[in-house]
Order: sequence, then structure tokens, then C-alpha cells
Amino acid sequence: MLYPIELRVRGAKVVAVVSEGVKPRRRARLAPEPWFRACAQYAIAMEGKSPIPHLVSLQDLSEREVDDLLDLSLRIKRRASGVQLTGKSVGLLFFRGSLRTRTSFEAAMHQLGGHTINLNATSDFWEVEAQEGSVMDGKAPEHIKDAAAVLSRYVNALAIRPALTGQSWAVDRRDESIRAWVQHARVPVINMESALWHPLQALADLMTMRETLGELEGKRLSIVWTNSLLLAALRAGLHVSLAHPTGYDLDDQVMAEATRLSEKRGARVETGMTAAEGVRGAHLVYARSWQSLDDYGNPTLAASRRSRTSGWTIDEALMRLGDRARLMHAMPVRRNLEVTDEVLDGPRSLIYEQAENRLHSQKALLVTLLRG
Ligand code: CP
Repeated sequence: MLYPIELRVRGAKVVAVVSEGVKPRRRARLAPEPWFRACAQYAIAMEGKSPIPHLVSLQDLSEREVDDLLDLSLRIKRRASGVQLTGKSVGLLFFRGSLRTRTSFEAAMHQLGGHTINLNATSDFWEVEAQEGSVMDGKAPEHIKDAAAVLSRYVNALAIRPALTGQSWAVDRRDESIRAWVQHARVPVINMESALWHPLQALADLMTMRETLGELEGKRLSIVWTNSLLLAALRAGLHVSLAHPTGYDLDDQVMAEATRLSEKRGARVETGMTAAEGVRGAHLVYARSWQSLDDYGNPTLAASRRSRTSGWTIDEALMRLGDRARLMHAMPVRRNLEVTDEVLDGPRSLIYEQAENRLHSQKALLVTLLRG
């Protein structure tokens, strides 16, 4: 007789069979063994999904997987989990600067007993080519295809903050560079912030929200300008209001996905309101610096437009319109432009908890991706 055993990998159910010659205790131990995991991953590959658990956007994870990560993050923060990654290495590639992401990632791996190798594109290596089939007669001396293949032989995962042109939103929003790394790496690729997505920030934000409010479903979030969090918040069942000056609308496709998710989840997403209307009744206010997609790649025009947009600084009077509202910001924050000192330094502020939670939630992610 054959016994089915089940394994869930990235939300997909995979069933294999073992013969009755394998005793029950042995069957119970079979599931995590490498051969079975390999079978499962092969089966997923056959369905057209990557067998490697990359993380480009939090949308790559099922709601259950996000919940599990948040539970583990909170356990790690309470020191209720003794997870370790001894002997594991992660390559960090920064094509743009970072304070929080780099430091929290390196600290997380070190505290788990693992190791990071940090490469800064501006000093430690060179530009890489992302275009398939290009004649490489430009500045980049190496193709992502080769860099990804080589680095995959040294480390257990690659975490990447890709370059942006900064010139064209239509080009940058395609996230071609991070997707090229995903295509060619043979180890998990973690997006450390591309044009569209910042899944590590979104995970820490959800952790901070859950820590502060408990159950998130039905709670109200007022946010300005952020993509990963908008979709992650709607998936968590939060009602979201997006208040922004005229001409600062979010990306059309992100908004279309937000509408689809809100309908699926029974959560509201509302736009086209003043700051006061957006914050009224909110439990959380998420501030973010403004950038109009119309001005993308034109800093002079962007600065000129910003100077004509007053009345959007989040201050104590605005915060009082919320329902004991707490203030969130991914940082870096432009003090007294985006949010006043009084709010940032006052009891409503969650900004340092959010920054700390990058450490705990990244540990949870790393352990989930690399253990076993
Ligand atoms: N919030 C965030 O990602 O910060 P850094 O750009 O400093 O990494």
C-alpha cells in the first residue's frame, strides 16, 4: 500500500507517496528530508512557479506565510525563539545607499550566527548589464546573468537594492534589474527596495501595526505615498485612506491592484481627500515624502511643485483628528517638512519601533528562507 504525504511549499500543496514498508514514525520524519523537498520543488517548477523562494514583493507570499512570518518576528523580538543560521552566508548588493536596511540586515545575520558579504556598487564592484542579449559595449563589464550564477555558488541568498535610472518612471517601474537577478540566481533573491516594492519595510510595518493594535482587520490607516505597504495593509484587512495633493497620485497599476485587493478583502481604499479628511478617525497615520510621478527624473520641477504644496506637514493638530492615532514613517524623514518634531519626538510616534522591527522581521524572513 502507498501512503500519501503532503508538504506545502510557498502555498502550493504537493503530495508524494511512500510505500507501506516505511513505518509511521519514519513517514513522519520523511517530509522535511531533502529528497522530498526536492521532489516538491520540482513539482512546483513543473507548474511554472520558481522552485526558489525569491522575495520581490510581499505579494509573493500567501497571507498565511505573511502571518507566520509576523508570528515568528514577534517571538524573535520577545526572545521566545532560539533560531540560528550558523554557517549560512548572504550576499548584500547595494546599488544605492542605505542606513537602516544595510545595518539591520547585517546585524540580523550576525546575531543569528550567520555571515554577510556586503558589496557596494559604487566602490566594491562595477555596473552590471540587465538586458538579455545586449552587445555589452557600454559601461557595464559584467552581465547580471554571470554575476548571479557566480554569487549563487558562494552564498545561500542574495539581498539586492537595485539601481534606478531616476529618469523615467515608465522604465523604473518595470523593476527589470531585480527581476533579472531573480531569473539568473540559483539561491533566493531578496528585494531590498526596488522602484515599486520594499517588502522588508512592509513586513516590519505590519509587525509594528500588529504589535501596536493587535488584530488589524477593520482598523483604519491613513497613508501617503507608499506602495508595498498599501497592498500589504489591504491584504491584512485594514481600511486605507490615501490623502495627497493634486497631481501626486500613485501608480495606476498599483491602484488597480489595490482596488482588486480591497474588493477581495472587504476593505475600503479611498483617495482624493484632504489631509484632515484622510486622518479623521484613523488609528495609524503613515507619512511619506511626496514625489509626483509627473516630475520623476526632474528634481527642479519636483522642488518647484513641492514649494507650491503647503499644508501637508503632519502636525499635532492633524494627529488629534485620528482615533488615538499613532504616527509611522519608514525613514529617512525630513523633519518639519513631512512631520513636525513635536509629533516625531512625542508619544504618538512609532518610528523607532518600526526601525527596530526591521531587525526582528528580517531575522524571521532569513530563518524561514534559509533554515533546512
Ligand atoms: N527605510 C529604509 O529602507 O531605510 P534605508 O534607505 O536607510 O535602508
